Amino acid sequence: MQIDSLEDWKRTHDCGSLRSENVGRDAVLMGWVNSRRDLGNLIFIDLRDRGGITQVVFDPQVNEEIHERAHVLRNEWVLAVKGKVTPRLEGQENPNMPTGDVELQVTELKILNRTEVPPFQVDGMVDASETLRSRYRYLELRRQHLFQNFQKRHLIAACVREYLNKNGFIDVETPFLTKSTPEGARDYLVPSRVNKGMFYALPQSPQLFKQLLMVAGFDRYYQIVRCFRDEDLRADRQPEFTQVDLEMSFVSEDDVLGVLEGLMKELFSRFMDREISTPIPRMEYREAMDLFGTDRPDVRFGMELQEIMDLVGDSDFRIFKTVADKGGVIKAIRVEQGASEFSRKILDELSKTVIEWGGKGLAWIKVNDDGWKSSLSKYFKADAQEAINNRLGAVPGDLILIVADSPLIVNQSLGMLRLEVADRLKLIKEDAYAFVWITRFPLVEYNESEGRLEAVHHPFTAPLEEDLHLLKDHPEKARSRAYDLVLNGVEIGGGSVRIHNISMQEEMFKLLGISREDAGKKFGFFLEALRYGAPPHAGIAIGFDRLVAIMVGVESIREVIAFPKTQNATCPLTGAPSKADKGQLKELALKELTE
Ligand code: AMO
Repeated sequence: MQIDSLEDWKRTHDCGSLRSENVGRDAVLMGWVNSRRDLGNLIFIDLRDRGGITQVVFDPQVNEEIHERAHVLRNEWVLAVKGKVTPRLEGQENPNMPTGDVELQVTELKILNRTEVPPFQVDGMVDASETLRSRYRYLELRRQHLFQNFQKRHLIAACVREYLNKNGFIDVETPFLTKSTPEGARDYLVPSRVNKGMFYALPQSPQLFKQLLMVAGFDRYYQIVRCFRDEDLRADRQPEFTQVDLEMSFVSEDDVLGVLEGLMKELFSRFMDREISTPIPRMEYREAMDLFGTDRPDVRFGMELQEIMDLVGDSDFRIFKTVADKGGVIKAIRVEQGASEFSRKILDELSKTVIEWGGKGLAWIKVNDDGWKSSLSKYFKADAQEAINNRLGAVPGDLILIVADSPLIVNQSLGMLRLEVADRLKLIKEDAYAFVWITRFPLVEYNESEGRLEAVHHPFTAPLEEDLHLLKDHPEKARSRAYDLVLNGVEIGGGSVRIHNISMQEEMFKLLGISREDAGKKFGFFLEALRYGAPPHAGIAIGFDRLVAIMVGVESIREVIAFPKTQNATCPLTGAPSKADKGQLKELALKELTE
């Protein structure tokens, strides 16, 4: 079969742009065969490119030779067609397609390429497995909705740059071959050939470099930058992902939050047609944990967690009593008018959620006009029932869900339950966007397995001034100047005011049980820089993939990353990671695993 060359043909339109106004004009389109209908006499092809789809028609009465050639065309062949734009026959218009009023009567055809039989249909009703789609990702990416995700991502990135440029930030690239940055994940290591036995680490973030740029006097830095973290993957986590990373000098919390709020306002107004009201509400970490059981609360709906230990702790219900004696907590949520919505079967399923999160089970109460319907009824007299109803604002028809356990388990399980209930009751409007800042995180937390304190954000985050007195005796009670930006229950960014004073930084390492020697080995270059006039500075990084995923309305960041990794951090398309060949290993002074 002959393949034609492009010669001097030029496209006049993309496949998404012809409209009734173009009727009577000549047009040249190029693209892929999305689908074909061969009616023997007329042959219809839906021709696709990134702009859309146009119906092109091969009519023997227009050109018999070309019509004959068109019989062989198959899905995903690559064509160039010249022809006249004509209106579709009455009744044949397709209101679901932007080009649905017109078609192209083909007068000349070039077959630019053929294809093997594709492993799955690009435009199919039945979808292929994820592995197969990833293996042939370039075919999957021909799907229009995916291309549109990337186009939007591109426009959002351009808008981010424009906004930051306008606000005095400069884009500076920082190294990828570097030393470990402590962001809490494992590093990807790269062996050095020149310095045998030595390794670079790929950056988990540009954290230390952006702080060095502040020491250098760059004042306002940003970068849309790839970060690398070897951690367990989820829908919103990839081993390499992109941050909008920025840092500012001579500022405090309000300045950084202000810049971010301006950015979100701009993005949501331009791309989502939404006016974000600023300032974005701020909530302290402690309050978020108390009310939502999580530091990334979805504040698109209420149903907050309420402590009821004082009302139920010394009841005769044994489980509550045991938890009270062990110093645990008992919390409840009220599901408005949930009594009739939740059958026994659903309540059992909700109970499973609690168990999955480490809890022992779920207690539930259906509030009726004449008291509670619940296995707990017999343990609580009418006045006790009323006190609990009042605490929760429960009225007849409502459902109360209670979890009693350690604070961690109660918060995690009831926090998840709150989301599950909202999901089941469809309480969350799909097009609602609710931002919240979470502030004043704990500075450090105890790492059981390592038997030492570790930084909650990273060790360069400044402690809250008013909590400095706690550092010596109760460091776990001290709060930090860290902040996270949460959108619809997703942590889309995090940052902090930094320590810029060397003695405070040294004190911080001491607190974290990092010896002077160790600190010197890991971050000596950075500590040294702090001795040379570091200005007060602060910054933040936005998880760009997560932000874009929310803005295009997809569940997983894989849909906005062109070539994402699978759950096992592999790439079925390229076959990465793969074994290195013997020569390479030798050069790098590495030995192959023999097992
Ligand atoms: P942090 O570690 O909070 O902060 O990261 C910032 C944001 O990056 C996103 N993110 C991820 N997205 C996809 N896949 C991942 N594996 C992944 N890990 C993190 C999240 C997160 O909020 N250097 C600090 C920032 C600073 O202090 O300025 C940092 O990296 O949305």
